[in-house]
Amino acid sequence: MFDVDQLITDCQSAVRETEPHRAVREVLERATADATAVGDALRPTRGGAEILYSSPDVTVIHFVWAPHMNLFPHDHRMWAAIALYNGQEDNVFFRRRPDEPRALTESGGKEVRAGDVVVLGKDVIHAVANPLDRLTAAIHVYGGDYLDEPRSQWGPGPMEERPFDFEAVRAQFAEANAKAGLTA
Ligand SMILES: [Fe+2]
Repeated sequence: MFDVDQLITDCQSAVRETEPHRAVREVLERATADATAVGDALRPTRGGAEILYSSPDVTVIHFVWAPHMNLFPHDHRMWAAIALYNGQEDNVFFRRRPDEPRALTESGGKEVRAGDVVVLGKDVIHAVANPLDRLTAAIHVYGGDYLDEPRSQWGPGPMEERPFDFEAVRAQFAEANAKAGLTA
């Protein structure tokens, strides 16, 4: 049984614990243990980001990556916990270049698969790709106000630092959906 309202209530409690990211990770592990139940409740049909809950302390977003979608590098400036319940999310991590701090250099990667719950530290800069021919779906929980926290993105286009713009993310989703023939 998966229930969005219960998930949100549990996340609200978890962020008041002494180690919020660990508590949220446990909440997500429990909540997404039955991936079929999560899919039945959230019903992903195309790429998109659905804000399930947003507050100054915690934000919960249902992310669905369209087939072969890439999202440009960005930071969060808060911890994040990602529960993949369907598909695969390939992360590429970056660091700021010591000689040119507004530019990035790659620093590794991680393949996240269905059933994984991953915690990212608040300094992480990453790009995300769905390598599959089908949708990838995940619940992302952020330890703060994901929508209003000023932060950065590098792209689309030139990898130059600029203010994060959620509309740019929505444009990436629209483009990837169109390429995959997933119309609204
Ligand atoms: Fe991210």
